[in-house]
Amino acid sequence: MALSLLALFLLLIISQNQLQNMIDHLCIYMMGAGFLSIDCGLDANYSGYTDPSSGIFYVSDEPYVDTGENHMVAAEYQGSRSRYFQTVRSFPSGLRNCYALPTKAGDKYLARVEISYGNYDGKNSSSSVQFDLHLGAYYWETATPDHTYEALFVAWAAWTPVCLVNTGRGTPFVSAMDLRPMAALYPPVSPALFMSAYSRQSLGQNVLFTRYPDDTYDRFWLPMVRINPRWVNLSTTGPIQPDPNFMQPLTVLRKAVTAASNETTLTITWQENKKAYSFMAFLHFADFQNTQPRQFDIYFNGEQLGASDKPHNPAFMAASCVYSSSMYRATDGSYNITIASTAMSVLPPMLNALEIYTVIPNDSPITFPKDLHLTLVQPSVSTYDSTTDSRLVNVPGHTIVSHEDQLQNTENRRFTYKELEKFTNNFKRFIGKGGFGLVYYGCLGDGTEVAVKMRSESSTHGLDEFLAEVQSLTTVHHRNLVSLVGYCWEGDHLALVYEYMPKGTLYDHLRGKHGLAEPLNWKTRVQIVLEAAQGLDYLHKGCNLPIIHRDVKSSNILLGQNLKAKIADFGLSKTYITDTQTHISATAAGTPGYIDPEYFLTGRLTESSDVYSFGIVLLEVATGEPPMVPGNGHIVKRVKQMIATGDINLIADARLRDAYDVSSMWKVLDIAMMCTVDSVAQRPTMAAVVSQLRESLALEEAREDNIICASQGSNVEAMSPAFGPLAIR
Ligand SMILES: *[C@@H]1O[C@H](CO)[C@@H](O)[C@H](O)[C@H]1NC(C)=O
Ligand SMILES: *[C@@H]1O[C@H](CO)[C@@H](O)[C@H](O)[C@H]1NC(C)=O
Ligand SMILES: *[C@@H]1O[C@H](CO)[C@@H](O)[C@H](O)[C@H]1NC(C)=O
Ligand SMILES: *[C@@H]1O[C@H](CO)[C@@H](O)[C@H](O)[C@H]1NC(C)=O
Ligand SMILES: *[C@@H]1O[C@H](CO)[C@@H](O)[C@H](O)[C@H]1NC(C)=O
Repeated sequence: MALSLLALFLLLIISQNQLQNMIDHLCIYMMGAGFLSIDCGLDANYSGYTDPSSGIFYVSDEPYVDTGENHMVAAEYQGSRSRYFQTVRSFPSGLRNCYALPTKAGDKYLARVEISYGNYDGKNSSSSVQFDLHLGAYYWETATPDHTYEALFVAWAAWTPVCLVNTGRGTPFVSAMDLRPMAALYPPVSPALFMSAYSRQSLGQNVLFTRYPDDTYDRFWLPMVRINPRWVNLSTTGPIQPDPNFMQPLTVLRKAVTAASNETTLTITWQENKKAYSFMAFLHFADFQNTQPRQFDIYFNGEQLGASDKPHNPAFMAASCVYSSSMYRATDGSYNITIASTAMSVLPPMLNALEIYTVIPNDSPITFPKDLHLTLVQPSVSTYDSTTDSRLVNVPGHTIVSHEDQLQNTENRRFTYKELEKFTNNFKRFIGKGGFGLVYYGCLGDGTEVAVKMRSESSTHGLDEFLAEVQSLTTVHHRNLVSLVGYCWEGDHLALVYEYMPKGTLYDHLRGKHGLAEPLNWKTRVQIVLEAAQGLDYLHKGCNLPIIHRDVKSSNILLGQNLKAKIADFGLSKTYITDTQTHISATAAGTPGYIDPEYFLTGRLTESSDVYSFGIVLLEVATGEPPMVPGNGHIVKRVKQMIATGDINLIADARLRDAYDVSSMWKVLDIAMMCTVDSVAQRPTMAAVVSQLRESLALEEAREDNIICASQGSNVEAMSPAFGPLAIR
């Protein structure tokens, strides 16, 4: 149900006079710090406006979403309602459409979605529409028109997707979306606990609706509707100290109810049969009477809240909050909160405000590693071992240490477009081109070299790809995955800033385009594909759920100093939504020559589609040829034909001049053929590929060792007959 008395209804019944009073009362032109207030469906050519009832500045949703249609509500619904109810954005196509709200990883936020139908589609179908709201991959609530939904969460990335999911009960749509920073309020909310507001009520309240600026954090507080007639209203006009953990608005704290003076309990009950719900209660108290002692115990379905054995004495003119220590679900759907006076209490029990939340299950894993909150460390001391990789950069902000790899995980920096111009010297040095746009060399103030990938105007890749990339790069970190230094998202300017990989791409090296005098030798090639395979294996394991790269190819394998390899370009990557999913349905994407034919035909995307593409890379490395040669067919077909001849010399890259271990070469070809079989079920996992490539590398290293031994006069044949210098001519 969530905040079931929507602001909209309240505003509808507010008279012109009340509205004027409210307007006078509010500081119209003020706007809360860090508020983002989105009027969904507002034409992008409006620069925004100040909502007179709240004084909050609203902007068009155009920069935050790239799907859906704008609509006006029907004329009879326009009237005196808040302006943001006059338009909606609806999503007739696609199962899942998301807004991307800019957030800072690790910060706490309130996200609010307002849904008001207003017969925008002329179908008069309000009562039958229903769809789901998701916060990233997490189910948040099932939404129905003319309701408001609020979530409290800790952001896990540089933006937070708020998604409308079509569940077959009508077209999803939305009127307004708000994002409010919550500082350190609501201590129980953490990366491990996200909550959805079920009810937030002010007791003894005669103001119809409280939000900003009365509430600095712009929560919506409604008066309690079902009032026990025996309750007594209390109020004060004096100053009240809010509880720093909750910063309750003064207008809420100044009102309260008590039980009748001859009664010892104050009880609130509700019925909720939805099985998915479990509840957490927050009770706010501030006493205005200090003539006699007041003391009570608080029970939620019989369980005592707060410190047990310790009754609560509400402070005089200072707020306090007592809340559940965990989520609670009643099997029969009946809930009650009982405030019961202790024997020493002379005054009856009281209550100023009540908040009830449900949990947003967020244990599914595209979020940060579970140990995030344990491992936040300051970045000034790098944990990073400079002997294993010399190009990982340190940036300001928090650093997350990954438990898997002891690698540092850099929080991404947001750059302005001006800064990009500055550190690329006005985009002077062009270094490459990706699906997303052009790539430029840059150098940060501290001397860190970076690659800046700009989204070009003509790019067919949009916000989705940009976000997919940021998401993948901010959630997985591995020494064989390229790391993101920061990003720019300013109006039409979208850019990603990576660590600079000075040695270019594997593709360029194989094509002889990198200007190196010597072609890569066999050992280096095997090392490169082994490292890339480890990066992919890590992606597939994800933090918990697999991430599928979808565009594995030799030009997405970048080489750093010492030719250390990293996988790049996550713009097409996809992740599973739940761990019970067996595949992802997606339109075929990727690069011709590398696309898994099975995925191309069926649209069923699994990790093995990446395995197929990786097999193509292995064939490129072994043969030195591109995947497609015009008139000569696909590389898998060509190699298959040559393998049939059994002559490795015909297959291996001639530029290697036979300087390779034959078994090592066969092993790579073998793995490549297994990776590229048509039957998805028969392809190996990346973990298996990694272990096979290790063996291939060991074979080649043994050959090199033997060459050294041979040159030192050892009896090579006797030492290692199988791996003798047969390949050396
Ligand atoms: C905004 O653009 C629409 C067309 O898309 C136009 O009808 C409208 O007049 C424009 N409004 C303003 C304020 O420019
Ligand atoms: C829309 O539905 C309401 C009841 O839900 C009804 O009173 C109203 O007449 C309908 N309007 C139209 C245009 O059908
Ligand atoms: C207490 O205040 C509420 C809200 O103004 C009002 O509806 C209710 O009648 C009052 N109760 C009493 C006993 O005065
Ligand atoms: C409190 O007093 C009212 C009448 O003044 C009476 O109706 C009610 O039953 C009493 N409650 C208790 C618990 O004695
Ligand atoms: C409150 O809930 C507890 C546990 O479900 C139950 O035993 C008790 O009777 C309830 N009290 C009221 C007043 O409903």
